[in-house]
Amino acid sequence: MRVGQFSGKNAIVFGGTSGINLGIAKMLAEKGAHTFLVSRSSEKVESAVAEIVAAGGKASGCPADVRDYDQVEAAVAKAVELGEIDIVISGAAGNFLAPAAEMSSNAFRTVIDIDLVGTFHTARATFAHMRKPGSSFIAITAPQAVKPMGGQAHVCAAKAGINMLIKCLAFEWGPQGVRVNGISPGPIVDTEGMRRLAPTPEINAALTAALPLRRYGRADEIASAACYLAGEEGAYVTGTILDVDGGTALGSGGLA
Ligand code: HXC
Ligand code: NAP
Repeated sequence: MRVGQFSGKNAIVFGGTSGINLGIAKMLAEKGAHTFLVSRSSEKVESAVAEIVAAGGKASGCPADVRDYDQVEAAVAKAVELGEIDIVISGAAGNFLAPAAEMSSNAFRTVIDIDLVGTFHTARATFAHMRKPGSSFIAITAPQAVKPMGGQAHVCAAKAGINMLIKCLAFEWGPQGVRVNGISPGPIVDTEGMRRLAPTPEINAALTAALPLRRYGRADEIASAACYLAGEEGAYVTGTILDVDGGTALGSGGLA
């Protein structure tokens, strides 16, 4: 990946204040993009922006809840003061382990609202302001979209919806030169997601042993995939879900 690859480009990163999405924002900024970070907590926005600026990058941001369309639209209005949007990363998500038979209706709906409806909101609010042709929308999905997992019915349903939304948007927006893709990360070290799904060293070890590549991934490995999809190298790629998951989505391979 080239230094300066994204000089002069504007990126907006929803859920960009921690974990994987912050890792993507940092790499986009290292490569010259101005990154506009959006999440609920203004403290998290301030601290993530400060981290990128301290590293020599360009960043700003504002708080918004992706479940609320008006808040998303207001955040986008602030972001476009910098100019048309070249790159959108839509990665806000919520997760907890809960068996379907015990989960409340509101618990199920909360994850659908953040992940699936939130992704629609970010797409709907940014499209009018995306550079045409040449811009790229990337949603962060998960192996749960294609692989059922215990305690994850809400997340599996939400992420499966995101995968289909990506394909529908790619179909509709391709003629205007807007590419739409997804990245499906496997388990990533030092993330809130894995602290929730694998809270003990024993569970981590069992999950690692079941992975074809026998290790968790890193946020920078997801960020590299985002740079590929957002950049010139990915210019003919749309409607794709790129698995960057160490083989997670392959499922259990039997004797291997
Ligand atoms: C059962 C739960 C629950 C739990 C919350 N709920 N946690 N039910 N088990 N552990 C229920 C609540 O009781 C409530 O239902 C409903 O969900 C909404 O909860 P709130 O706390 O009011 O929601 P809110 O404050 O909006 O917070 C949203 C949240 C929270 C998703 C619940 O955890 C959050 O803000 N998460 C963001 C950070 C995060 O999750 N990061 C990980 C993303 S990783 P009732 O009926 O009581 O009203 C990820 C990884 C995927 O997605 C892939 C890994 C391989
Ligand atoms: P994380 O650190 O908890 O990141 C979630 C981000 O979304 C935070 O910036 C959070 O900030 C924001 N957010 C949450 N709810 C929001 C809302 N309603 N509106 C706006 N912003 C909201 O989680 P992560 O583990 O890095 O996961 C990041 C993404 O990768 C998610 O899409 C997740 O599903 C996906 N993923 C993760 C893994 C993994 O191994 N961790 C694997 C596969 C896929 P605020 O709290 O300030 O809102």
